[in-house]
Amino acid sequence: MKYFLDSAKLDEIKYAYENYCIDGVTTNPRHIQSSGKPFLQAVEELASWVKEEGIEGVDVFPISIEINPHLDKWQDMLEEGKKIASYSPNYVIKIPCTEQGLIAAKHLEKEGIRTNVTLVFSPSQAIPVAKLGAKFVSPFVGWKENCGDNAMDYIEDIVKIHKNYNIDTEIIVASLRNGKQIGEAAVMGADIVTCGLDVYKASFEHPYTTHGIGIFTDAWDKTAK
Ligand code: E4P
Repeated sequence: MKYFLDSAKLDEIKYAYENYCIDGVTTNPRHIQSSGKPFLQAVEELASWVKEEGIEGVDVFPISIEINPHLDKWQDMLEEGKKIASYSPNYVIKIPCTEQGLIAAKHLEKEGIRTNVTLVFSPSQAIPVAKLGAKFVSPFVGWKENCGDNAMDYIEDIVKIHKNYNIDTEIIVASLRNGKQIGEAAVMGADIVTCGLDVYKASFEHPYTTHGIGIFTDAWDKTAK
């Protein structure tokens, strides 16, 4: 299962790339806002970084950039998607799962620009994303669970649908909040998870690991020298 970092902060992205073996990045307008940079500056800096690193290309290190959320006509979404894609060969255009968004994604894919259809909250939303040939579909877990739903159930359904029909679109299980959800996504057979640096960091650790180090340190110190 691939790990994507959910962030637009270049220092976090560099850290996760160098230390956590991340396979790509997902951003959204909130992440760009948290980066403290204007949209175009953030987009240009990320584009320069992948060039410097020599990791160019959507198949090497995909970075999802979301279109302006004010746009609600597919023609405008298409134009905006083409503009964003022109900044880097790594850019995947993130579009919300609405009727107009799906039409725009279909046109972008036809023109060879890869898409990530986002804000997906049901299996019936994920099916047309696969039919249009999007590169990625992003069902959200955290947001759904915040509303009291058991979000992992619908992720399992989407994974099953993709297996039933040999669908190429990759499932990015998004807005994950903890290591339990990362493990569950892997057990289900999801292609990718995306979450923040803090969630990954916490998922690498366990209180018993810390406890075990204490026991072994004690034994080490008491071993005859
Ligand atoms: C990913 O593609 C989404 O933008 C993201 O997972 C949403 O994350 P949040 O729940 O941290 O806002």
